[in-house]
Amino acid sequence: MKPFDRSIKIAPSILSADFANFGAECRAIEAQGADWVHVDVMDGHFVPNITFGPATCAAIRKHIRGVMDVHLMIAPADPYIEAFVKSGADIVTVHAEAGAHLDRSLQLVRSFGAKAGVSLNPSTPASALEFVLNRIDLVLVMTVNPGFGGQSFIDSQIEKVGQLRAMIGDRPIHIEIDGGITPETAPLVAAVGADVLVAGSAVFKGGSVETPEVYGRNIASIRAAAEAARQKFAA
Ligand code: DX5
Ligand code: ZN
Repeated sequence: MKPFDRSIKIAPSILSADFANFGAECRAIEAQGADWVHVDVMDGHFVPNITFGPATCAAIRKHIRGVMDVHLMIAPADPYIEAFVKSGADIVTVHAEAGAHLDRSLQLVRSFGAKAGVSLNPSTPASALEFVLNRIDLVLVMTVNPGFGGQSFIDSQIEKVGQLRAMIGDRPIHIEIDGGITPETAPLVAAVGADVLVAGSAVFKGGSVETPEVYGRNIASIRAAAEAARQKFAA
C-alpha cells in the first residue's frame, strides 16, 4: 500500500459487478481509475445476504494490482480472519457489532500482517471506537444498513463522520464511507473528513467490461464531486 494520506480514494464495490466475471471486472475498474477494490463478504447471519468466502477472495486477488479492501459482514469473524488475510487482503475490516471482543479481533488481523479496519452500523455511535484507536488503520462508516447494494444514503451518519474525524486527530487512520455513495452524497461526507468512498451501484451502473469507459466516467464524477467539497471545506 502507498504511504498514508488523506487524499480522496474511490473504492468500487464488486458487489455490483458481474459475479461470473470478477477477474475482468477488477481489471476494468482499476484501469478506469479505481484506487482500491472493495470486497463485500456476507454470511446470511450477520447480514441477510450471502456473497462468498476466502477462496473467492484469493482468486480475485490475482486480478487486483492495488489495494484489496475486504469488508467482513460475518459473525463470528475471528475464526476466519487468518484465511481472509492469507487470501491476499491488504485491509480486513470487521464489524464492531459482530462479536464481544473487538479488541481481540483487531489484534488478530494485525498479527497476520494486514491493516485492521472497524466498521460501524448506522445505529452504532462513534464512541464505540474510543478505546481501540491505537489498534486500527481504518474506520468504515456504514451509510446504509449492510447487506445489499443500491440502498439510500442515511444522512444522520454525516455527523458521526465529523465526530470520528475529531477523535482521530493526527492518527494515520482512514475514514471510509460505504452505502449510497453517488456524486450527490460523496460531497456531504468528503466535507467532514472522509477519504475513502466505497461505491457499488454508482460505479457499475450503465457499464460492463465491454464498455469500461462508463466505469471511468462514473468514478471520475464521484471523485470530482468529493474533491470539490474538500476544497470548499478547506477554504
Ligand atoms: C453494503 C455493502 C456495500 C455496498 C454498497 O452492505 O457493504 O459495499 O456494495 O453499494 P451501493 O454503493 O450500491 O450502496
Ligand atoms: Zn462494503
